[in-house]
Parts: sequence; structure tokens; C-alpha cells
Amino acid sequence: MKPLSILFATSEMAPWVKTGGLGDVAAALPAALKRAGYDMRVLLPWYPALRSAFPRAKVVAEIPALAPALPPARLRSAKADGLPLLLLDCPSLYDRPGNPYLDANGYDWPDNAIRFGLLSRVAALLGQTASPLDWRPDVVHANDWQTALAAAWLHDQGGAASVVTVHNIAFQGCFGEPLRADLGLPESAWRFDGIEYHGLLSFLKAGLQLATRISTVSPTYAREIQDEAFGYGLAPLLRHRREHLRGILNGIDADLWNPATDAALAAPYAANKLAAKRRNKAALQKEMGLEPVTDRPLFGVVSRLTEQKGHDLLLAIGDGLPELPAQLVMLGSGDPALESGFLALAERLPGQVAVRLGFDEPLAHRIKAGADCFLMPSRFEPCGLSQMYSLRYGTPPLVQATGGLADTVVDVSATTLADKTGNGFVMADGSPHALWQTMQRATAAWGDKRQWQRIQQNGMRCDFSWPHAAAEYDSLYHEAVADRG
Ligand code: ADP
Ligand code: GLC
Repeated sequence: MKPLSILFATSEMAPWVKTGGLGDVAAALPAALKRAGYDMRVLLPWYPALRSAFPRAKVVAEIPALAPALPPARLRSAKADGLPLLLLDCPSLYDRPGNPYLDANGYDWPDNAIRFGLLSRVAALLGQTASPLDWRPDVVHANDWQTALAAAWLHDQGGAASVVTVHNIAFQGCFGEPLRADLGLPESAWRFDGIEYHGLLSFLKAGLQLATRISTVSPTYAREIQDEAFGYGLAPLLRHRREHLRGILNGIDADLWNPATDAALAAPYAANKLAAKRRNKAALQKEMGLEPVTDRPLFGVVSRLTEQKGHDLLLAIGDGLPELPAQLVMLGSGDPALESGFLALAERLPGQVAVRLGFDEPLAHRIKAGADCFLMPSRFEPCGLSQMYSLRYGTPPLVQATGGLADTVVDVSATTLADKTGNGFVMADGSPHALWQTMQRATAAWGDKRQWQRIQQNGMRCDFSWPHAAAEYDSLYHEAVADRG
């Protein structure tokens, strides 16, 4: 049987453009599917970082203005380690510095509807008979609101089957009604069971309504988003489509995230050579200006600083850290109130709390290796890659029981130590008090070195590799294609 061909449409892809986990997934999942025999191509904008990486990417198609607000563009092709990329070249929309979604002041780029409207429209076009390429995918796989609207054109005009994956339902891409005509969407699609959402055009809602199949990035999150508390308004729609919704846990790139070979670390280590992990802690304490003490655990954070991630809970109890006693190292950026709150905490507790604002990939690796325990008290977490990285790095995570965190972290207890599954610490609820108690519990567990090593090894043994997830996408794609007929 001829392998299916898949167009994976995304607004970010590591290592070039990454604001969070989607960047990692867009790099690793298409590569894993290609290894599994799929004919894969990845579509994304030719951002500055990709222009630098692939300056001579060949033009393979000219795309005319497809709607009143959509400028003409070009498609270029390149290969990343053998994986074919289709780069959408439209300098007025994509050739600008900084974050793919936000301007230098942290506001959404004012033309995001056009920038991601064009990306979605081109993703759909490549799945249609009018495609300018001689390659046609069986499935257009869109990711998050930035590409979800592709499903609307494919539904309306025919073409490939579509899969929309929700990486985070909190971001929906809602814009004013006039945009419908600007983007060339028909008036007939303006329905509550079409692209319309409370009087607005919602890219994500349109995609979830009209895609052939929907997925999200963990089984627990697939259940949670059908509930009002987690669905951000889309729970009724997802309940309605539950037969077509699947939760597939992300994998991690086990080569990029491998403590035995990670070039960013001070000292490599492995599950059976854990002693060397201590050298990474000492190096991290030095790098971050923390006191070089060995009598207390070092808690680590690498995160976007947003409401989702729950670090306001940590800020609420941060002044108590010396009482545990414990140290804290944080790398993050986002909400200005959280940023300044943590900087102030570091000033109050010099040598015990160190905070670095910004995005720094090598430092993220060093924290996951050098910390003793990784803090991720997220209020919701569709999958979460960071806790899987820290499990692999022998740095037990401390989490709330939600989404992918609930699917990957097993609370340490007498039972889970006996059956060798306990690999981290789960909070009893979402309060600062519960975080405090769980940090106390982790600090006490860390004090028992033999037990701690068992917890570390339980986590390091977990297999979160991509082939497993790729097999589940395989069945989802086949279902979508069969449905599309
Ligand atoms: P999310 O996608 O919601 O941000 P994930 O845990 O899935 O959460 O993925 C986060 C990814 O982004 C991880 O690879 C993590 O290491 C990385 N990351 C987050 N913040 C930073 C930062 N400030 N510097 C470097 N890497 C970061
Ligand atoms: C989102 C989610 C995160 C998930 C990532 C990749 O950013 O917040 O939980 O791991 O997407 O799917």
C-alpha cells in the first residue's frame, strides 16, 4: 500500500522558531512519521531564522492573491535533515524580528489574522486540486489556531482530509466578522456550526467544527476539554464531536534530550551513573550565583510565565524557601507582573533564589539537569514536554494532576515506590498551601538519598519516545482518509 502523504502545517518549529512545546513537536513528530514511512512535508512561514538557515531555498510555486486581504506569496522548498520543508515566503507578513506572535512590547502583531489566515489558506490550497504543486497530501494536519482555519476551506471546497491538533485551547484566534470576506470565506460558512463563534470569526473553533478528525496532546486533556472548566467555551462543541476526538500523548526527542550526550551540560550522566549529576548542580549554582550548598535541594523552573503555568502559586510561598530549606532557580519570560515578582524574590533571597528572564535553550537543558526537582504546578497542561524532559534527566517533577502531567507523573508513595512507578510529586489541589506541602514532601524525600535515587531511576526508565505516538497518528490519519472517502 502506498504510504499516506501528510502536510504538517505549523506556526513554529525548533530549533529555528520556538516559543514552547509546539516548536519541539513540529520538529520531532513529522520526523518520526517520516521514519515510519510517511511522505511528509512541513509547511511554515519563511521567518528570519529560516531565511538565515535556508537562504537559497528554491522557489517551487508562485501563489497569487487568494482573497482581498491575502497578498501574493511564494513557496520555497528546503530539507531539514532529510525532512522536506515548504517555506511560505511573504516578506511583508513574516520577515520581521522577534517572537512569531508578539511584537517587541508583548502585544499580538496587529495583522496576525492575515499572517495566519494566509498560512491556513495555503495549507488548504496544497490539499486541493488547484494546488500549484504536483504533490498532493492525503491529510492536511493543522496545529493550533494559527493553522486550524485550513479545515474550513477543505470542508467547504473539498480536498484532502483534515486533522486539527489542539496544543492549547486557551488560544483561539478570534477576529471581527469583516475578516470572513477579507480571507475569502463564503457567507454560507457563517453559521454556529461553521466558522462563526459568538459573532466572531474563530480560527480554532472553525477548525474543531469542520476538521475531519481532531486530536489533542494527551488522553486526560482530551477528556478535560469536554468539560466547561477546561474547554474555554468550546466544551459543548467537543462533546458533540467526541467520537472524532483523540488524545495522543506527545513524545520527546530522546537524542536531543539525553543527559548522557547533552553538550550543554557540565558533566554527562545516566541512570546507572547518577553521581555525575551532582557536578551539574554545582555548575548551575555557580553559573546562576547561588550559594554552593549541598545540604538542601535545588528546585528548578523553565517556563513561559503565564497564568496557565501556576507560578503565581510559587511566588505566593517563595519567601518561605529558606524554611524548607531549599534553593530555587528559574528561567522564564512572559507576564510582566510575574517577571518582576520573581526578580524581587531573588533580590530578597540572594544566593538562595536566582532568576533569569528570557529564552535560553542551553540554560534550559542545564536547569533540567542541575536542579534536583522540577517545578511545574500548571493549572492546565495539554501535554507538557518539560516534565518529560526532566524525568529523563533524573530530576523528578512536581506537578498538579492535570492534562499530560496526570498522564506522565506518578506520585511517590509507599505503593508506587514498591511497584517502581513513583517518579514525581503530585499536589493535592491547586492552592499555594498544597504547593508548599508538596515541596516539603519532596524536600524530605530528597533527604533520603537511596530512596531519591530510586525515584530518579523510575523516571529515567519511562519511555516517552515518538514511535508510540506516531502509531496512534497513523490510525487517526487512516480514519480521517476513510471518512473523507
Ligand atoms: P508549553 O508548550 O506550554 O510552553 P511544554 O512543556 O510543552 O510547555 O514545552 C515548553 C518547551 O519550551 C520546553 O522545551 C521548554 O524547555 C521550553 N522553554 C520554555 N520556556 C523557556 C525559556 N525561557 N528558555 C528556554 N526554553 C524554554
Ligand atoms: C502547548 C501546551 C503544552 C504542550 C505543547 C506541545 O504549548 O501548553 O502542554 O506540551 O503545546 O503539544
